[in-house]
Amino acid sequence: AGETRAILDLDGMSMLVSAGGTREPIDPVRFIGNRSSGRQGVAIAVAAADRGADVTLLAANIDAAILADVEAHPGIAVTAVSSADDLERELTARAESADVIVMTAAVSDYRVDGASDQKIRKEDHPDGAPTLQLVQNPDILQGLAADRWPGQTIVGFAAETADSTDELLERGRRKRERKGVDLLAVNEVGWSAGFEQEQNTLHLIDAHDDVLRTVSGTKRQAAEGLLDTILRVRVR
Ligand code: CTP
Ligand code: CA
Repeated sequence: AGETRAILDLDGMSMLVSAGGTREPIDPVRFIGNRSSGRQGVAIAVAAADRGADVTLLAANIDAAILADVEAHPGIAVTAVSSADDLERELTARAESADVIVMTAAVSDYRVDGASDQKIRKEDHPDGAPTLQLVQNPDILQGLAADRWPGQTIVGFAAETADSTDELLERGRRKRERKGVDLLAVNEVGWSAGFEQEQNTLHLIDAHDDVLRTVSGTKRQAAEGLLDTILRVRVR
């Protein structure tokens, strides 16, 4: 019904999708996070499962209301993760058996070096604020792409700000190459565009630097366009 397709063109495909945003602990009650709701990744998981794929969703801090669609779906297994480290561990454990990996999760670029076991209290810093020492997280996507087997398809996402579409695509091409992925979905964002709103535009850049497709519409429509494009890069 509605946007749901009856064609099971992903039947037999195993797909691993990450979604949401990681949280990096500062102390037991605080974290560094970001604004990714997980909606686009959830839409991809649901669309893929509706088309017959066997989907595992690694959900990083996604609201229960947003996850309701996937938890009810017989074609999707959900595992909750929190930090980048959790996400990397769960991905690595499942990567080899996936035909396609789609990384929509916003992975924190940095984590706090030596997060405190105890709550940080103001009385411990009477003269000012504590300093957080940050260290870089590993690039999970780059690692998955480097380790992929022939025939496995690795898809990345990039939310970018840019002054023009040309600049956006140029950034996207550089990032696609740096990550070594088969496909990079570039999403233009501003302070609100692309995050909370339902409408979305994705530019899909392949390994030849070509924009294979630009899909605009609801997150579900963007998901369908992405899945069509994944099928296209897999057959050539
Ligand atoms: N990603 C990842 N591991 C990281 C950072 C990002 O796997 N440590 C993945 C994201 O899930 C996404 C893609 O890489 O699919 C692009 O993320 P992005 O933050 O745009 O890339 P970065 O390399 O972190 O570049 P930037 O400096 O623009 O944030
Ligand atoms: Ca980043």
